Amino acid sequence: MNETAHPRTAPLRARAEIDLAALRANVRTLRARASGAALMAVVKADAYGHGAVPCARAAVAAGATWLGTATPEEALALRAAGLTPEQVRVMCWLWSPGGPWREAVEADVDVSVSGLWALAEVREAARAAGRPARVQLKADTGLGRNGCQPADWPELVAQALRAQAEGLVRITGLWSHFACADEPGHPSIAAQLARFREMTAYAEGEGVRPEVRHIANSPATLTVPESHFDLVRTGIALYGLSPSPELGVPADFGLRPVMTLSASLALVKHAPGGHGISYGHHYVTPGETTLGLVPVGYADGIPRHASGSGPVLVGGKWRTVAGRIAMDQFVVDLGGDEPEVGSQAVLFGPGDRGEPTAEDWAQAAGTIAYEIVTRIGTRVPRVYLHEDAREDASD
Ligand SMILES: Cc1ncc(COP(=O)(O)O)c(C=O)c1O
Repeated sequence: MNETAHPRTAPLRARAEIDLAALRANVRTLRARASGAALMAVVKADAYGHGAVPCARAAVAAGATWLGTATPEEALALRAAGLTPEQVRVMCWLWSPGGPWREAVEADVDVSVSGLWALAEVREAARAAGRPARVQLKADTGLGRNGCQPADWPELVAQALRAQAEGLVRITGLWSHFACADEPGHPSIAAQLARFREMTAYAEGEGVRPEVRHIANSPATLTVPESHFDLVRTGIALYGLSPSPELGVPADFGLRPVMTLSASLALVKHAPGGHGISYGHHYVTPGETTLGLVPVGYADGIPRHASGSGPVLVGGKWRTVAGRIAMDQFVVDLGGDEPEVGSQAVLFGPGDRGEPTAEDWAQAAGTIAYEIVTRIGTRVPRVYLHEDAREDASD
């Protein structure tokens, strides 16, 4: 949906405005920070809730040369939407046995291989497709999640080289992922880097000639320059959010939050003191007051854990969720103010118009900003602003 012409007046119950000019500016900021490396825009999970295809296009317009997804289905959807191999490389890394390997090979998607079962499946797919698969070997340098353990690496490298000699794969990359890059100075950062250097050196010594070696996510891109190698894989920073409050706020890195979530007040009414509010009556009006009904709830991704604590900007003032967040709605105590029904309640945005941020909601709910934006549900329309990259020239 594109409502650029009337972004703030269309009568929607709720909306997530996605500022694509901010996203493009964030891409340029990140490219400048990792100027020796290419940039992969990580657009998995529907671009952390922002909309995969519009965000991928905006990132490519601003100079991203790779797109990253978790699942192969997400990668194939990007190709199906017209992001061509000539325009941008696409890589995906979360495979299960029986996955769409052949479709990925045919769509020129780089696939990640962490173990021998995956190498066997990708070889079969390449044989069926009649062309080599682009394979990136993933090393577990310490995250302990996906990736090949150092002890199993020589066998994986040997078998991948054999498949390459048979013309079934091209080993395009060697890569890994950090565990604690968002905790500045954490000893695992240096340890993972050292292991990554060892494991890539081993593979290169055996004859692998990767186009790209990569390990940096957003926090490493922002704070660990020696981790940039040939490519940085940025997710959260593209969307203008800090990987963790410990590292700083977005503005400290020249980043601007991309999503603004708002809803139109569905009801404004007077209520007497002593009135219980929402399920469980966990909030009771302290005196005669006015109440505003905000028509979004946990079905829209508003975390129920922020009941009684989530902040909302209404009529220029911060209000707090009164009582429980329900499936479709919650209430704010307006303290006697009487904004018109239909007035905007802004849950979060960049913060520079006085509204709370996704980080404020993360703190209210006891989670991270990643989860706040990513979980905004499909019932909330995304409204794309500044889709035309030519606007940026006048910045
Ligand atoms: C393998 C991989 N690389 C990169 C990223 C991007 O991380 P971030 O959003 O912290 O930049 C993710 C996201 O979790 C990931 O799973």
